[in-house]
Amino acid sequence: MRSLAEQSDSDLGGPVSVLTRQKRDHVKLNGLLDELDRTEPADQDPVLRRIYRLVFPHAFAEEAVLWPVLRRVLPDGEALTLQVEQEHQEVNELVTKLEQLPVDAPDRPATLRRLVEVLREDVRDEEDALFPRLQEKVPPAQLRRLGVAWEAVRRTAPTRAHPVVARRPPGNTVAAVPLSVVDRLRDGVDFASQHGRTKDASALKTASRGLTRFAHAIEHLPIMTRGEDPSTHRTGR
Ligand SMILES: [Fe+2]
Ligand SMILES: [Fe+2]
Repeated sequence: MRSLAEQSDSDLGGPVSVLTRQKRDHVKLNGLLDELDRTEPADQDPVLRRIYRLVFPHAFAEEAVLWPVLRRVLPDGEALTLQVEQEHQEVNELVTKLEQLPVDAPDRPATLRRLVEVLREDVRDEEDALFPRLQEKVPPAQLRRLGVAWEAVRRTAPTRAHPVVARRPPGNTVAAVPLSVVDRLRDGVDFASQHGRTKDASALKTASRGLTRFAHAIEHLPIMTRGEDPSTHRTGR
């Protein structure tokens, strides 16, 4: 069993394979985490937003498309996937906390350090353990089909932290469409308020707050937590 990090794209099943696509995103994430490390705290927000836009759809599509397959094909798939779901849950909770902390808050450095640590651990667990195990069980043609399905979900998945929503189907798949629409609207509004005219800024901030409240209302619908393991459940926010 070889880590994805030690294998070429053709070993992984070619450019369409889910393993190649995963590794490509993980390399991008490592680059962004290094950039974050080199950036002064006051200027870190734009880098963090790029990290969130990469990480949340990526992880959401793993939970919706890939982990159910691992649970089917591996005898210990339940324990293996639960561990990464717990890592994803911690990322969701840390980002939710960070978004509420001012840049000079005393617990911000430790929260950020832990976020970077969990993100790096998640990549290692997937590249060194989960995906090589999947590779042993599944032929390259199926890895390519999974690559197409994972990419389709990734492109339309929510782009923000949602710690209240289930990390498993059916809750997360029901949540995908409404939360994705609201998240992408919020991304657009936030982008406009950062780059637009100052005279529009307060209206855009009001719109962003309204969309945030709407996203929270969707998250708390009971159906969004169906399928959840108790260890990744969070009730409040
Ligand atoms: Fe991944
Ligand atoms: Fe992950």
